[in-house]
Amino acid sequence: MTSPLFRTKKVEQSIRDTEEPEHALKKSLSALDLTVFGVGVIIGTGIFVLTGTVAKDNAGPATALAFVVAGVVCALAALCYAEFASTVPVAGSAYTFSYASLGELPAWIIGWDLVLEFALGTAVVAVGWSGYIQSLMDNAGWEMPAALGSREGSDVFGFDILAAVLVLVLTGILVLGMKLSARVTSIVVAIKVTVVLVVIIAGAFFVTADNYDPFIPDSKPVPAGESLDSPLIQLMFGWAPANFGVMGIFTAASVVFFAFIGFDIVATAAEETKNPQRDMPRGILGSLFICTALYVLVSIVVTGMQHYSELSVDAPLADAFKATGHPWFAGFISFGAAVGLTTVCMILLLGQTRVFFAMSRDGLLPRFFSRVHPRFKTPHRPTILLGVVIAILAGFTPLNELAALVNIGTLFAFVIVAISVIILRRTRPDLHRSFRTPWVPVLPIVSVGASLWLMLNLPAETWVRFGIWMAIGIVVYFLYSRTHSRMAQPEGAEPGAPPGPSGGPDSR
Ligand code: ALA
Repeated sequence: MTSPLFRTKKVEQSIRDTEEPEHALKKSLSALDLTVFGVGVIIGTGIFVLTGTVAKDNAGPATALAFVVAGVVCALAALCYAEFASTVPVAGSAYTFSYASLGELPAWIIGWDLVLEFALGTAVVAVGWSGYIQSLMDNAGWEMPAALGSREGSDVFGFDILAAVLVLVLTGILVLGMKLSARVTSIVVAIKVTVVLVVIIAGAFFVTADNYDPFIPDSKPVPAGESLDSPLIQLMFGWAPANFGVMGIFTAASVVFFAFIGFDIVATAAEETKNPQRDMPRGILGSLFICTALYVLVSIVVTGMQHYSELSVDAPLADAFKATGHPWFAGFISFGAAVGLTTVCMILLLGQTRVFFAMSRDGLLPRFFSRVHPRFKTPHRPTILLGVVIAILAGFTPLNELAALVNIGTLFAFVIVAISVIILRRTRPDLHRSFRTPWVPVLPIVSVGASLWLMLNLPAETWVRFGIWMAIGIVVYFLYSRTHSRMAQPEGAEPGAPPGPSGGPDSR
């Protein structure tokens, strides 16, 4: 008999669960909705904020190459995600996929990891949004009191009220229903894509060729000390920590990877898609392709407008226009960025609640959270709980290091998904796959290697934090989830209900 830690949930069982009326989500999304949804979450803080930081600190004009590297890593992972999402069209993304292939403990680990990714990702973007709003308010001559403003670089104790309010408002919209959020999303995505296109097209007229020289700046040693800040790979191999040069492109790629996060969330909406078999691969790959092209163009234009060493780290796209004497464009871009970050935040929050919902439906988290709202058909309980927690987190936390933690969590999920594709092909060759990852097992193995490579380029302290979070997850699994899992119950029993008339903990 196999160990219960590796019991798998049958794919058919996962699909059946979604059909139980009490736990079913509405199926209303098309391939176009999914692509809009993807672009809506993918374009965000990554391109609007991190481009400047990375060009200035790690890669110079070669930031465009960093986007290509990160885009390739994501495309490899996307091909694996697409196969899983079209085979297992159930809420929960990588969590559900690994439950069907690797087993319960690996699935728990990945679910726990995704909760971290999405929750911190939502908080990071909310804080970035708050920064843009504050910059717009400054333009209008209004200033936030320091205690209610952004926590980034602030030494006064305080609470970022704008970031918290944004998360709470979005929570309300999500509770009201998917259709409303998809409609709001498409309008906002249109504004955001317009802004990005304006940066590319208008900015191209203000490029100075000298700014591209040298395209890959020479490698520069960083001062010794603070070794935990260095990429793990440099510590592992005892390399002298350095920025720029060819290695700088990889360091930059591990940071701008944040800009691609989101295409995996499209997979979390599989259960709400009308025809997931056909539409999921189109939605995931389509949105990823559009974003990669836009990122490369934006970074080429921006590093051409201003010398990389002069780029701003708070609002690099807008400030590059100010620096070339076009403040009107700068205002428009700041406005678009603020609007655009709203959808990113909302969709990250949505992905987060769906993973939580799926884990709760399986009994790994209390089943209380998996009853959908009788009228809105949305998982209102996890949405409200997580919305409040994230609002508090966003209010108190500066975003810098959190972004790296989000990246490591996401890359880890990519590794598990790629491995799962190989395993599921072997254990369930019979399953219908409307999209098949090409060149299995070679492509998934390359995907694992590429994701690990970017992970190794993240700071050592990010690895330590990630290790602590995952260790807590393992403890929760052994103390709660293992015994409450639906897979641990006899057919038809409520999880956690001991035998006998006295009944168990109330699951509602
Ligand atoms: N990809 C998203 C962003 O850049 C998370 O903000």
